[in-house]
Amino acid sequence: MREDLQNSPFLRACRREPVPYTPVWFMRQAGRSLPEYRRVREGTTMLEACRRPELVTEITLQPVRRYGVDAAILYSDIVVPLVAAGVDLDIVPGTGPVVAEPVRDAAAVRALPPLDAGQVGFVADAVRMLVAELGATPLIGFAGAPFTLASYLVEGGPSRHHERTKALMYGDPATWTALMEWLTAVTTTFLRAQVEAGASAVQLFDSWAGALSLADYTALVQPWSARVLAGVADLGVPRIHFGVGTGELLGAMAAAGADVVGVDFRVPLDEAARRVGPGHALQGNLDPATVFAPWEAVAPRVLATLQAGRAAEGHVFNLGHGVIPTTDPDVLARVVDLVHEASAADGR
Ligand code: CP3
Repeated sequence: MREDLQNSPFLRACRREPVPYTPVWFMRQAGRSLPEYRRVREGTTMLEACRRPELVTEITLQPVRRYGVDAAILYSDIVVPLVAAGVDLDIVPGTGPVVAEPVRDAAAVRALPPLDAGQVGFVADAVRMLVAELGATPLIGFAGAPFTLASYLVEGGPSRHHERTKALMYGDPATWTALMEWLTAVTTTFLRAQVEAGASAVQLFDSWAGALSLADYTALVQPWSARVLAGVADLGVPRIHFGVGTGELLGAMAAAGADVVGVDFRVPLDEAARRVGPGHALQGNLDPATVFAPWEAVAPRVLATLQAGRAAEGHVFNLGHGVIPTTDPDVLARVVDLVHEASAADGR
């Protein structure tokens, strides 16, 4: 890896090294909040767009150009490897992933086809193109964690209560284990393909893990996420582990093998630092709804997030969840400038 990239503020913060200023990027920074995204996506479905490396490259670069964020995140989706493996699934605008035949019993799990790295070759092509364009700006690869992907497969779509997923997890441990084994393999293959093509960090999205108690998370989910994170450890890139509503799980998510723990907006970063303990950086955690308030209300909250982040051994500024599609991009641009200016003046 080139030296200016290896020494970028984002990678240094992930490694808990001193930085000239606090690096910042936004989950879902590419997407519907950007008029230039809506323009290039016209007439193409999300899943089609993900298969076209030139389009993926353009969409991934859009927020880097507009905001001057310190990292790019590959434009793709957590369900892309499932579709590549052959699962009949669509991303329905305004709803999210919808699975034609939900996976709810042992026979359905047995029928899941293995994922071969060649089936996500279009992702590796996009990563190679992006790395050439990005120069010293790191590219983050990502995947959905086994539990969050299982929720889509078992429920058949987005779910508020995850009741069928929990019914399978509690009621049929052997089938749950088989499903987690398949998902662990898929996720590990997908992440390795991205890093081997040049991604310089990975984020494991366990978006819906916050639906679980600590006891259930620890017994039935964390071992599989730990296996995924261990499965990319030899590649030597920082591993970010994120979920929503995971205040009670932060210690367990760190212990799963995360270098950086992503924190949603419900737990302040100084308290999160206490919960994850030493040896981890933190990422987060401005409430994405904050940017809808007048700037006079936004700025002090950005500064408070930076201040709380000083309790962590390393801090990557982010939102506490993804950019809301109706967000004004100009406010996000001001947030990036303020994070950079205030943290540089602070000498962190
Ligand atoms: O962060 C980024 O900019 C990179 C791209 C990215 C997308 N999805 C693009 C996308 C990432 C990292 C994801 C991850 C993802 N996908 C997660 C985990 C992150 C999180 O939000 O917790 C989840 C749960 C999904 C599943 C999914 N895909 C949902 C819930 C949706 C939204 C449905 C909707 O229309 O509101 C999608 C579709 C999707 N993935 C969009 C984007 C930009 C919007 C659809 C579009 O632009 O056509």
